[in-house]
Amino acid sequence: LTPQDLIGETVLVTAGPTREELDPVRYLSNRSSGKMGYAIARAAVNRGAKVILVSGPTALTPPCGVEFLGATSAAQMREAVLGKAGEATVIVKAAAVADYRPATRAAQKIKKEGSREMTLVLEKNPDILAELGEIKGARYLVGFAAETADLLANAGKKLKSKNLDLIVANDVTEEGAGFDVDTNIVRFLFADGTVQELPRMSKEEVAGRLLDVIAARR
Ligand code: PMT
Repeated sequence: LTPQDLIGETVLVTAGPTREELDPVRYLSNRSSGKMGYAIARAAVNRGAKVILVSGPTALTPPCGVEFLGATSAAQMREAVLGKAGEATVIVKAAAVADYRPATRAAQKIKKEGSREMTLVLEKNPDILAELGEIKGARYLVGFAAETADLLANAGKKLKSKNLDLIVANDVTEEGAGFDVDTNIVRFLFADGTVQELPRMSKEEVAGRLLDVIAARR
């Protein structure tokens, strides 16, 4: 029987990639499938929470019972998340938000010119999670860290600088971890310095373990 230990909580989950448009037919993005975030949203509904899922473009069907908000770019995701953050008692940011976007979006398809090289100028996107950290209040705030080196050190920096309660660190170079696979290998890093290391497990099981921690600390 699924424990109903999240009744009374409103869990805002973000999932999937963002797309940053270059022109009407091209964009910059990443390999996030949305599986990790959707698994968390589904598990939170099953445990009795009210769930708001803000998702970038994915091939997945939103779980039954969630309030679903689609977003394409980081700017749109930011608007949706900040618009709903006031309702949330728990926020889990599994989305892979683009750190940069093209400085300009061409109105017409960019033409191949004679030159052998072309330069893209990118500008920084706002960090949605850092903004949430600034207005944290009593909310339980969870980030993810997708790293390719120095997992614990880099994730620990994000935990502190973004004022989080917990960061879920995944080394996305490990087999069976990270982007676009059905399993993940994660470590939970808490604000008090504790680290909990989990073996490879399905993203559903990772979601369950994460919600166990959240339910125990609320
Ligand atoms: O979607 P899947 O295919 O299932 O893959 C899962 C996953 C690998 C995407 C997921 O496990 C994961 O690691 N998600 C976070 C990816 C990421 O963008 O990590 P980051 O280390 O770059 O960002 C750190 C945190 O800040 C994240 O919670 C991110 O949502 C947030 N962020 C980052 C940049 C930005 N501009 N705004 C943000 O809010």
